[in-house]
Amino acid sequence: MQSINQEAIDEAVSTVKVACPDTKPKLGILLGSGWGEAISDFAVKAELPYAEIPGLGKTGVIGHAGTLILAEHAGADLLVFQGRRHCYEGASWTSVVLPIWILKQFGVDTVLLTNASGGIREDLKPGSLVAIEDHINMLGCNPLVGEHNPNFGVRFPDQTEVYSSNLRKTLLSCGADASGIYVATLGPTFETPAEIRAFRSMGADLVGMSTVPEAIFANAVGMKVAGLSCVCNWAAGLGDEMLTADDVIQTANETMPRMRDVLRKFVRSVM
Ligand code: HPA
Repeated sequence: MQSINQEAIDEAVSTVKVACPDTKPKLGILLGSGWGEAISDFAVKAELPYAEIPGLGKTGVIGHAGTLILAEHAGADLLVFQGRRHCYEGASWTSVVLPIWILKQFGVDTVLLTNASGGIREDLKPGSLVAIEDHINMLGCNPLVGEHNPNFGVRFPDQTEVYSSNLRKTLLSCGADASGIYVATLGPTFETPAEIRAFRSMGADLVGMSTVPEAIFANAVGMKVAGLSCVCNWAAGLGDEMLTADDVIQTANETMPRMRDVLRKFVRSVM
């Protein structure tokens, strides 16, 4: 995939700064598959469709609205990206990491990445909310590949604590059910049962097609990262049913009251 284009991400920041002037957001949230409605009770101060943000572009993926929202909650501003771009869309790293770069340029130092996943560990049944403890990158790629850009941190970023352990504890105290290790695959295919058995023996607890690039990039540019996953199905071969994106979204919809509750409590704790 094409490396991050510095000019494009700077242009995007200018556009967002015009649409959201005079704000000092305290937190960034990236809402993944099925999470779009989780902030429906936050006050909206400004909205910007992704299609109007150069370099970000429209997301065509089910369950991803593709809107940037400047919201207010608990007396402070926060920027919420309603929908993400994925590697499997084949666009470029620019569109995948752009939300993080925008947050960074607004002075935000904490980001919550949310997603939908398949449960691998026995206790992570559909409907579980899992605070991501660490990840295994099986994407076969990395957003920092390419000529080193010092704006994005050091050439070889440490990965010992990509997800802040303090923020993970906060998520647990806000109602997340468990912690877990997230393995990211490129997609867009779901995994095979043999892959899931392999991932389980590697130590993975949940599987999805996202989050890892943004977490790597946010960590590299010095942000604190929290990850929260809604387990929406048993991973391939562990349940009785074939996997479909519609079923993933349906489980997320059924879990929405708890997703909303944990998110709201988390926002109040960190703002
Ligand atoms: N695999 C990959 N991505 C997913 C899954 C899954 O089982 N469920 C939701 N997103």
